[in-house]
Amino acid sequence: MPKINSAVIFLFFFIVILFYDCRRAQEPLYNVTQSVVADSAMVVSPHPLSTEVGLGILRQGGNAVDATIALQFAMAVVYPRAGNIGGGGFMVLRNQDGSLASLDYREKAPALANRDMYLDSLGKPIDGLSTQGHLAAGVPGTVAGMFAAHEKYGRLPMAQLIEPAIQLAREGFRITQEEADRLNRFQEAFQQYNEAPNPFLKNNWREGDLLVQDLLAQTLERIKAQGAAGFYTGRTAELIEAEMESGGGIISQTDLQNYQASWREPLTDAYKEYRIISMPPTSSGGVALLQMLEMLEAYPLSEYGFHSASSVHLITEVERRAYADRAEHMGDMDFYPVPIDSLLSSNYLAMRMADFNADSATTSEHILAGNFSVGLESFETTHTSVVDEEGNAVAVTTTLNSNYGCKVWVDGAGFFLNNEMDDFSVKPGVPNQFGLIGAEANAIAPNKRMLSSMTPTIIEKEGELFMVLGTPGGSTIITSVLQVFLNVAEYGMDLEQAVQAKRFHHQWLPDIIMVEKGGFSSALMDSLQVMGHSFREVDYIAKVKAIQVLEDGTLHGVGDPRNLDDDAKGY
Ligand code: DON
Repeated sequence: MPKINSAVIFLFFFIVILFYDCRRAQEPLYNVTQSVVADSAMVVSPHPLSTEVGLGILRQGGNAVDATIALQFAMAVVYPRAGNIGGGGFMVLRNQDGSLASLDYREKAPALANRDMYLDSLGKPIDGLSTQGHLAAGVPGTVAGMFAAHEKYGRLPMAQLIEPAIQLAREGFRITQEEADRLNRFQEAFQQYNEAPNPFLKNNWREGDLLVQDLLAQTLERIKAQGAAGFYTGRTAELIEAEMESGGGIISQTDLQNYQASWREPLTDAYKEYRIISMPPTSSGGVALLQMLEMLEAYPLSEYGFHSASSVHLITEVERRAYADRAEHMGDMDFYPVPIDSLLSSNYLAMRMADFNADSATTSEHILAGNFSVGLESFETTHTSVVDEEGNAVAVTTTLNSNYGCKVWVDGAGFFLNNEMDDFSVKPGVPNQFGLIGAEANAIAPNKRMLSSMTPTIIEKEGELFMVLGTPGGSTIITSVLQVFLNVAEYGMDLEQAVQAKRFHHQWLPDIIMVEKGGFSSALMDSLQVMGHSFREVDYIAKVKAIQVLEDGTLHGVGDPRNLDDDAKGY
């Protein structure tokens, strides 16, 4: 008898668990909307919980900057592979009165960094040293950036903006399938670079599992109580330095104390009836985007048609030219005289296209960076686009660089550090993890910022706010922002189609068009091949998050199906 009883009990629990599991599999964990139109305010972010936080702040009377700050802290909890307090980013703003600003809170090289720090005694780059582990981390900028933005534009108290992130970290949240897949993929690396136990270490993460981050909640509490000093000095700074010392890293408490975000003049230029507003160096995004649009403007793209051979060939050729300049001329303007005016001058760009041939590819070996006499003047990032009821718009792209950055989780402080040092040119001509090469402009130096491709962008049409957009994607960020804009402005797509449409990318070197699988028909490939192009198919390129102001003044928010967790919501 007792045997039967235990078998029955076992069977009962088995059925209950099975039933629970089936329900878990059927019911979506979160209500995600990837395309939505709303009357007055909109938030697009990479996770439904961060979107909810941003929207909540707008409803409480916060402006777009408040919402963005709350989103940033919330993403550090619910989107740990790229949302961060251990990384950095860029913010582009357009206030409802048309005034503009941009903020650079990119990481910096620690004071002990030097140009050859990733090379062996023979001058060869040491595999993985700039991408994984303690030495790959730059001095984080995100917290300083959030406080700088708040000081100038914030309306609600900072404590109110950080609180939702603290709650999410302390009480935990259910992870999505996308997050579970990533966490499972990086278990080995987490173990390799972390000695202490941490909440990310687990054998088999599944959708719906609860992720609680007590130590992160405590760090966020310190920031809430002490402001940026709660991160850059005191206990958090001590913990970061201790983590560095335990693993051969070089970020010191002095580096942290000295970190400051920088306000920069946003780059703007006209393209037909539009005005593009984007990020200047330390990101290469704005310069390259404006260069490409200026080179394209003389050609009838809409007549050529979306993904016609002529369009793809022309766009490839301008991308190739812009990325050649990026490699040679762009870096931290505080250290290197980036020749922005020359790079953006109409004469230079017209000259740049002088060797464009409508029928054949100009191979990259024949494209050199422009020459100026001006003295010599498996990644994850994320983006948020916000428009508030008053029409203030904020585009932010932020990152740890690779998924979970350098994989080092600061023991005691509860967050991952970036691996942004790899965005420097570790040696002239040697490609980084995105295949990008660089030169003197982007060589490593103490306290210098590494060059980025992040391209948070705001676009006006006939003087009014028209679009807010940006994306993760490493080197493909700039070309993806370009193509989504062209899809709307030239090819007549609505924003959802524009974001969903297949993308392609050329970055000068390697001399190849990267294209999303199924993106080009075989006839198109044949035509392009005849012109001299070659291809590499990839699963996806970038994950754009965008808002468009429609003709009736309503807002169309769109996330990217390439990230199933992208969530657009408004009211
Ligand atoms: O700043 C940059 O250009 C890179 N660190 C961005 C990395 C990135 O977008 C990875 N995401 N997919």
